[in-house]
Amino acid sequence: MARAHKYDVIVVGAGGAGLMAARYAAQNPGVSVAVISKLYPTRSHTGAAQGGVGAALGNVSEDHPEWHAFDTVKGGDYLTDQDVADAFAHEVIDAVYELEHMGLPFSRTPEGRIAQRKFGGHTRDHGKSAVERACYAADRTGHMILQTLYQQSIKDQVVFFNEFHVLDVLIEEGTCRGVVAYELATGELHTFHAKSTVIATGGNGRMFKVTSNAHALTGDLTSIVWRRGVPMEDPEFYQFHPTGLYKIGVLLTEGARGEGGILRNADGERFMERYAPSIKDLAPRDMVSRAMFLEIREGRGVGPDKDYIHLDLTHIDAEIIEERLPDITEFARIYLGVDPITEPVPVQPTAHYAMGGIPTTIDTNVITDGENTIVPGLYAAGEVACASLHGANRLGTNSLGDLIVFGRRAGIHAAAYAKGADFEPLPTDAQDRSRAVLDAVRGASGSERASHVRRDLQATMMDHASVFRTDETLSKQVEILKELRDRYRNVSVEDTGRIFNTELMEAVELGFLLDNAEQLVHAAQHRTESRGAHSREDYKDRDDDAWLKHTLVHREDDGSVRIEFKPVTLGRYEPKPRVY
Ligand code: FUM
Repeated sequence: MARAHKYDVIVVGAGGAGLMAARYAAQNPGVSVAVISKLYPTRSHTGAAQGGVGAALGNVSEDHPEWHAFDTVKGGDYLTDQDVADAFAHEVIDAVYELEHMGLPFSRTPEGRIAQRKFGGHTRDHGKSAVERACYAADRTGHMILQTLYQQSIKDQVVFFNEFHVLDVLIEEGTCRGVVAYELATGELHTFHAKSTVIATGGNGRMFKVTSNAHALTGDLTSIVWRRGVPMEDPEFYQFHPTGLYKIGVLLTEGARGEGGILRNADGERFMERYAPSIKDLAPRDMVSRAMFLEIREGRGVGPDKDYIHLDLTHIDAEIIEERLPDITEFARIYLGVDPITEPVPVQPTAHYAMGGIPTTIDTNVITDGENTIVPGLYAAGEVACASLHGANRLGTNSLGDLIVFGRRAGIHAAAYAKGADFEPLPTDAQDRSRAVLDAVRGASGSERASHVRRDLQATMMDHASVFRTDETLSKQVEILKELRDRYRNVSVEDTGRIFNTELMEAVELGFLLDNAEQLVHAAQHRTESRGAHSREDYKDRDDDAWLKHTLVHREDDGSVRIEFKPVTLGRYEPKPRVY
């Protein structure tokens, strides 16, 4: 295979956002499009999203995009940019129907419409009661989206480079000119020259010990572009999903609570009645995860170590569970030996979703500062990006909506830019940085193992920077990260081969994860308030006077971190205390 490639549009990542972007770009006659993915596309993590995609279709009860926008802003603890939430809540309706027309097998109402169910933080008429807004395909909604979009991308003649790890984004003189990727099968570097590059590589949850994220989610691109001068926006806001399988972290959809599931402590108490009296178990995830942690900390956790909570579905009709929640029922049976039809399931909060990421405009252009200076030719969409839709806490189902709405916008804008642009020349040393990244690991002779450093990173991030934080825990983590970086320099690999060297790639990914942890911890230490998923026990209140602003974390050339701020785009919803 040639090692130099040229496409008008390159998309990095083959999950929902990447495939949507690729499809929309490919629909422009004469625009060549390729997708580069470190996985086989249908193994992308979008496939693990379960419960639904939120859109105000009103198929089960009255609903309006304006209510959806309000819930998104309130759920995000008012850090959401309100122009983004408004556009999203309207466009996601059309995007869901588009998926239906592509053939996505949604579950159906008795009348044959797309079925919808309740989900955390989604309400009718500005918080009056929970509303059925999540459009679902049993508990396999993400899987169905991924399969549908992949089929369509093949039909649209998108070219795929599977099991290619991107190691560099070529930003030269302020313009993006493509990427460099490592081919896992051969160990060779490939240069992809492009007019437009779309980054859609998902999250970074593997920096935590207990996570719902797949092994591949190591924050590669949020590290790579950071080292190229792009700041990270709001990385301190990291979401813990309340219901991960105990100790394993595998997701049990919030749709289970949407179908009537209840969280209970060791006394069998429905404790969410105390924390969110109106919508109880369907409060936003940050509130539910905090409540679970507090129940456990105050001695009301379940089990011999009192360290988990019960998700109780036993009162729900077995037929409904089997029909609407088949996958999670199997997960509980297989991994924990528990049958949700007859027994409560042990659960704990699990690291799930990065609200922050690569900063973008509403049209997915990547920006480099608080003045919204764009990088021509560079776009980002999906979890890796931060268009500021989710603010300080994402509502369940808004991730799948984000993928299809902003993936589509990315494809449209990347193709439009490519049609009017020339290929900017590539530097002669285009592959040098990537080779240096590989050589640093291949040439190391230290005795450290990547798996040991990763294990310690994950455990300490869980202890010091997860649901609750203080200056003390975060300062400690800053020091630990320095030690882990020193140890990382001593990591060597035993496999010196070129073919499918997964050991080498895991070591490289660990370097990316360390950068992601550093972004999160520094931003979290800086923000001396509690907002959404960022809960500081030493600053318990939200402080709008000082902190109603986005964080931008820059990496300086000497490796130090600099923090800048960016205003939140407000709108018709005045920031108010968040009561549910
Ligand atoms: O609970 C879930 O099904 C997850 C959905 C989401 O993260 O949006």
